[in-house]
Amino acid sequence: MKTLVVGGAGYIGLTTSLLLADEGHVPIVLDTFERSKEADIKGLGIRYYNGDYGDKKTVMTILQEEAIDSVIVFAAYAYVGESGKVPLKYYNNNCAKMIDFVSVLVEYGMLAEVMIPLVFSSSCATYGIPKTIPISESESQLPINPYGWTKLMGERILNDISNAYDCIRVVALRYFNACGAERKLRIGENHDPETHLVPLAIEAVLNRRPLYVFGNDYNTVDGTCIRDYIHVSDLAKAHVMALIHSQGEKSKSFDAFNLGTGTGYSVRQVICAIENELGLEMNIVMSKRRQGDPDILVADSTKAQKIMGWNPTESQLENIIRTHVAWLKKRV
Ligand code: UFG
Repeated sequence: MKTLVVGGAGYIGLTTSLLLADEGHVPIVLDTFERSKEADIKGLGIRYYNGDYGDKKTVMTILQEEAIDSVIVFAAYAYVGESGKVPLKYYNNNCAKMIDFVSVLVEYGMLAEVMIPLVFSSSCATYGIPKTIPISESESQLPINPYGWTKLMGERILNDISNAYDCIRVVALRYFNACGAERKLRIGENHDPETHLVPLAIEAVLNRRPLYVFGNDYNTVDGTCIRDYIHVSDLAKAHVMALIHSQGEKSKSFDAFNLGTGTGYSVRQVICAIENELGLEMNIVMSKRRQGDPDILVADSTKAQKIMGWNPTESQLENIIRTHVAWLKKRV
């Protein structure tokens, strides 16, 4: 496959691009480097363009000159808290620009008379506060923050387009909590600013800094939130499988899959696992709840297992911690 990977220089995007290349496919990355670093992709042997997926001319040129046959869309702003403060920025980048991008893709597909499989990076944030745990794809989608709404709208737009045009088939992947470093440690979790539990807790213990735990009065075993932590390499694998699946005869014009392990860990349990793995104690500071955090988010990924044959194999908490620590050490 020759795959245009939009937002392919970020954490999950670059891990997926590297896997595509390792498996003999050709990833072509388009990224603005606004929230990713060019230095991360440089020297990895992946062809990339510095540009915006909302720029129709750039997109058409790449599609035609590179003879692209498949697409993955990662490009999005993804901070839940920020999305509440600057929602228009989120709707513009995650929805409006995606409409421009997909309109070029449809034009390209119709001109070339080819079917383009598109994998869309969606989120468990589209479920809001779920009624049933574990969460299956049939759970109602009612987001509780603008970020979640942009992802749900993204799914809706792509669903309608894939029904209207034969030249595009869509798989939406709803990730739970991505973490860990890529198998060969070429990329790891490195957001700026970092807001995610696993990297912050590991840094806290290694650098003897406090870790703020957001709330201990949730309706869970120990009062802290429960999440389903999924290794980024398992997520990357699902994208490649989804591209292949959507080219098969049995695939639908639009389909959606949850990607998680089915096992939830509380914030306290994650902290304990990190302390055990590193043999160090963490300085924990209990703080108030962070706005928009549901008590429990755990995936039912049976559908991805049954239909795509996807199984997470690298998402044991110990492996997530070990790969992140090994990647941190490699960077120094
Ligand atoms: N947490 C802390 N302290 C921290 C950071 C996080 O206690 O310093 C807690 C959070 O309150 C939450 C848990 O750790 O209970 C996990 O938080 P993360 O920020 O690591 O991840 P989220 O569950 O908030 O976010 C993930 C994805 C988002 C997605 C969201 C859906 O990263 O993209 O799930 O709820 F939108």
